Amino acid sequence: MAIIALKCPEIEVAVVDISAPRINAWNSDQLPIYEPGLDDVVKQCRGKNLFFSTEVEKHVCEADIVFVSVNTPTKTQGLGAGKAADLTYWESAARMIADVSKSSKIVVEKSTVPVKTAEAIERILSHNSKGINFQILSNPEFLAEGTAVEDLLKPDRVLIGGRETPEGNKAVKALKDVYAHWVPEDRILCANLWSAELSKLAANAFLAQRISSVNAMSALCEATGADVTEVSHAVGKDTRIGPKFLNASVGFGGSCFQKDILNLVYICECNGLPEVAHYWKQVIIMNDYQKNRFVNRVVSSMFNTVANKKIAILGFAFKKDTGDTRETPAIDVCNGLLGDKAQLSIYDPQVSEAQIQKDLSMQKFDWDHPAHLQPSGPIDLKQVSVVRDAYTATKDAHAVCILTEWDEFKNLDYQKIYDNMQKPAFIFDGRNVIDVAKVRKMGFIVYSIGKQLDEFLKDMPAVA
Ligand code: UGA
Repeated sequence: MAIIALKCPEIEVAVVDISAPRINAWNSDQLPIYEPGLDDVVKQCRGKNLFFSTEVEKHVCEADIVFVSVNTPTKTQGLGAGKAADLTYWESAARMIADVSKSSKIVVEKSTVPVKTAEAIERILSHNSKGINFQILSNPEFLAEGTAVEDLLKPDRVLIGGRETPEGNKAVKALKDVYAHWVPEDRILCANLWSAELSKLAANAFLAQRISSVNAMSALCEATGADVTEVSHAVGKDTRIGPKFLNASVGFGGSCFQKDILNLVYICECNGLPEVAHYWKQVIIMNDYQKNRFVNRVVSSMFNTVANKKIAILGFAFKKDTGDTRETPAIDVCNGLLGDKAQLSIYDPQVSEAQIQKDLSMQKFDWDHPAHLQPSGPIDLKQVSVVRDAYTATKDAHAVCILTEWDEFKNLDYQKIYDNMQKPAFIFDGRNVIDVAKVRKMGFIVYSIGKQLDEFLKDMPAVA
């Protein structure tokens, strides 16, 4: 929304939320999310044509176009539990829009939603419309965290789906005109509503599938002595495949990949396509396998027990350059190690202690509900300490696990770290950031995803 405000000075953009603390943060110098370049954009527009407000109904009533970006968590109970998207927040937003509207509006789905959500929303709006005309558009977001501003300024594509009727086409054109302020016309794709909704799920599923494919190869590389970095380099040189998204890792995280694929799986099942559902489910199964495999590798390498051993966790965010921990693989890895009674000392440059404690105490999928429905109050896991630098985290530790690819982890003084650790000293690199040969020379026993195994680890079971 801030980019729309920046690029379309004649359009007034009001961002509304029922959470006063969140809106206050958007109106302050400390924005509630960390995203490179966003501060500048907000500062340039705030108070001119960009406003943040808790007066939800007033602004919705006044608007010509309403973008809806509410949470769509995975259901944890009832029909479709563990897979289907919970549309409670979307439905209440639609009812509120219908209640407060006095003039015709274009309602844009921005949150990722299951295919055919627009149809349900359309029904809610039209049954409560008091004769007002609502046009529903799907305009899925393809930005990635950490590069959001750049992605929005120079998108690969903008996708707008609408009804194939004269009113639908008019609404699509109105939204297209907004983006045309800065996006070249050939990058603005128009589609029918269902294609647009499905394209979002499909794009994320394809991206996640690449990671699961390379992670599957990483297990085979370890078993055969191949090097996954060399394999993905060779594979990615094929211009039909391309080099992006082929980095083996401890697993993908983030608020979207798993959720969107589960959603896709559920839609396939509901449409009587179990083989298709099974195909996509395998992407998640492989991701879970990769996280478990990492934990098993740590435990089995350390003589089959980590009980009461101090393990340093470097990195907790789901990827570098963000403080976001939603579905981060670090949660599953830490919980796995805690299950084996390890003592964890965690350091991440951007994630707070409160967030880490909360993440390790929360039930799966709870993060996707509004703050007041998440566990509150101080949570203090006795086996977990959160520290402010990598050297404190690793002091007296038996092992180091690298779970996020922060640049600073490449340049740490590993000799100093080695000297201050218990021996034998282990490094488990879940992101392939360290120079394996160099730290091995220092005396570390090193495991790096998809790389040739250390002699010391060769006799250990690959998966306990
Ligand atoms: C992802 C998509 O990339 C965006 O296009 C999409 O708009 C967004 O989800 C969304 O639906 O909101 P994001 O979750 O911000 O963006 O992060 P990614 O850069 O895609 O990374 C996702 C996860 O995959 C991270 O944990 C990352 O470390 C991991 N990853 C990525 C790998 O393990 N290997 C790779 O080669 C690339």
